[in-house]
Amino acid sequence: MSIFNYIYPCWFRKNFIIYLDCMKTLLITGVDTEVGKTILTTSLVAYCQKYLSSLSLGLMKLMQTGLGDDELYHQLFQNVDIVTPISFKTPVAPPIAATIEGQDINLGLVWQELNRLQSQHDFIFVEALGGLGTPVTAELTVADIASSWRLPTVLVVPVKLGAIGQTVANVALARYSKVNLKGIIFNCIDPTNQENSANLTPKDLIQSLTNVPVLGTIPYLINPTNLDSLAESTSNLDLEQLIFGYKWNYLV
Ligand SMILES: Nc1ncnc2c1ncn2[C@@H]1O[C@H](COP(=O)(O)OP(=O)(O)OP(=O)(O)O)[C@@H](O)[C@H]1O
Ligand SMILES: [Mg+2]
Repeated sequence: MSIFNYIYPCWFRKNFIIYLDCMKTLLITGVDTEVGKTILTTSLVAYCQKYLSSLSLGLMKLMQTGLGDDELYHQLFQNVDIVTPISFKTPVAPPIAATIEGQDINLGLVWQELNRLQSQHDFIFVEALGGLGTPVTAELTVADIASSWRLPTVLVVPVKLGAIGQTVANVALARYSKVNLKGIIFNCIDPTNQENSANLTPKDLIQSLTNVPVLGTIPYLINPTNLDSLAESTSNLDLEQLIFGYKWNYLV
């Protein structure tokens, strides 16, 4: 028997397990709070509902402090399994909010809910909180969760002054923490023209500084709660990489 008969099954099993863990989940994170994580998440869900209506979807806000993205999700999507396992009323970072409210942060609960969604649905979108460096507990950041839970991750970058530096810093943290960063999405948080947008978030410069592909831009939406506009806003995103491309990335 050739050595490849031994190597191949191990190689396949290892990669297939990673594939099973990850193939159905995308973590949507950003360089900061209020940069468009919810906009990208709702756009992707609206796209799936419109064009891939047979897919059963799970949607999770990893953790919420202050007013919830959860409410908007429930308002927009009726046939999606939506869950926010942990939320605090106080609008500050979770470990601080937990202390103020005399609560513990039970990450096991979040993990359990994620596993439930993964076992019951075809694809799961998870919106993170804040930026990659945002603390989830007193010891762990969003980057640590993305890495240790092996979540394929996309980074939302707002089209505004300062975006280049924020992107470089967040990608450096992602790399340090071994996050599986699939790409960067630019998001036009204000009305802008193409020239201004290219000056504030220059695609080639950001790609050469970070070595991470830019997978498209979400335009400024006049009505960000209109499901058709949200679905159409994904038209220049590389959905192959964001939703459909997992098996190929993990098995090659
Ligand atoms: N492309 C866009 N077009 C129009 N409005 C936008 C766009 N992107 C973001 N906004 C608006 O900017 C605000 C912040 O966006 P969003 O809620 O998506 O950010 P976030 O990163 O999810 O914030 P948080 O960290 O609080 O979860 C919202 O009021 C949203 O409607
Ligand atoms: Mg949000």
